[in-house]
Amino acid sequence: MPDLANNYQNILNNFFYFSISKNDSIYRLPKLKLVGHFMAILVTGGAGYIGSHFVRLLSKNRIDVVILDNLSRGHIESIPVGVPFEKVDLLDVESLEKLFNNYKIDAIVHFAAFAYVGESVENPGLYYTNNVAGSLNLIKAAHKYGVQKFVFSSTCSLYGNPERVPISEEETTKPINPYANTKLMIEKILSDFESTYNSKFVALRYFNAAGADPSGEIGESHDPEPHLIPIVLKTALGESEKVLVFGNDYKTPDGTCIRDYIHINDLADAHFKALNYLESEKKSQIINLGTGSGNSVLELIELSRKITGAEINAELTARRAGDPAILVADNRKAFDFLGWKPVNDLTQILTDAWNWHKNQKY
Ligand SMILES: NC(=O)c1ccc[n+]([C@@H]2O[C@H](COP(=O)([O-])OP(=O)(O)OC[C@H]3O[C@@H](n4cnc5c(N)ncnc54)[C@H](O)[C@@H]3O)[C@@H](O)[C@H]2O)c1
Repeated sequence: MPDLANNYQNILNNFFYFSISKNDSIYRLPKLKLVGHFMAILVTGGAGYIGSHFVRLLSKNRIDVVILDNLSRGHIESIPVGVPFEKVDLLDVESLEKLFNNYKIDAIVHFAAFAYVGESVENPGLYYTNNVAGSLNLIKAAHKYGVQKFVFSSTCSLYGNPERVPISEEETTKPINPYANTKLMIEKILSDFESTYNSKFVALRYFNAAGADPSGEIGESHDPEPHLIPIVLKTALGESEKVLVFGNDYKTPDGTCIRDYIHINDLADAHFKALNYLESEKKSQIINLGTGSGNSVLELIELSRKITGAEINAELTARRAGDPAILVADNRKAFDFLGWKPVNDLTQILTDAWNWHKNQKY
């Protein structure tokens, strides 16, 4: 019976992987009860930007996956047909436990969170509840149901204004907003659970996730959209009037901020490698994910003009509070421990993002 279920799942993945429909009802396929040795990866936030690209990678590799998302900020259209989806809120412990009862979960990759810095400053309670309390519920459920492997979406913003660039994992953590505080707290919870229960985790501290799957089927869609690349490309499309450049008096070659942009599929690949690492090494790690080189705001706008052929109106305005001049990863640990190296540069990121935004599906 487990093999049958396994085969059925693979057939679904094989045949329906690329057929993503806007019709919600197509997702209400009969649910498979996963039993016996049928093990799945639980992906929380799998309907979100980064999570959906990771789910696609798992599906391509015929790895069984269960998506948990409350769709508060995600998109049902990003979920490949045939992949089990559970509309569950991490704050709803009863539904969460039901999910752990219904599926045999082997490992968790935890993307689900609210991730707007500005919103976290305006409404810190929302962030501590959703991110910290939600993650604690998940971590406690993982312990209760014997799941020992956990990959966590952390962020470079917990370094605050770093003293050394490129930023290594040795840099002191000094979060300067509630969002980053929530991520640091969750890392500490994971570490405390490891000390007591010997569960293992890899916390991946991302730099700037960007780009889209080259298929154009899935990509970035936030509302409001806080990230520079979608803002620039929406301006190229005429959907937005101009790009605001916050300050040109930073200590950088052209005076604008420098960030480390990492292709979304390189990021997805790192999660895959983190799962393999937990399987083989059984050690916890905190690892930066970035390319190791950065681009300024003006460089990014100029390259976008070349790729899109559009003018892209940019307007200089005052600095924003809390923007460090340069955020670039020292990514050597990711290579040493995960064997991970990013393969896409900013041109590829912008090309794929442009391909997505020109024909945005959700
Ligand atoms: N985008 C970046 O550049 C970046 C950088 C660093 C870290 N991160 C982290 O990566 C993760 C994914 O980011 P993203 O850009 O894909 O965000 P996203 O908003 O696109 O995806 C997050 C998903 O989590 C879901 N979610 C939120 N709260 C939930 C809850 N309580 N229960 C169930 N589902 C819930 C949302 O509906 C959404 O689908 C987040 O944890 C974020 O903090 C992102």
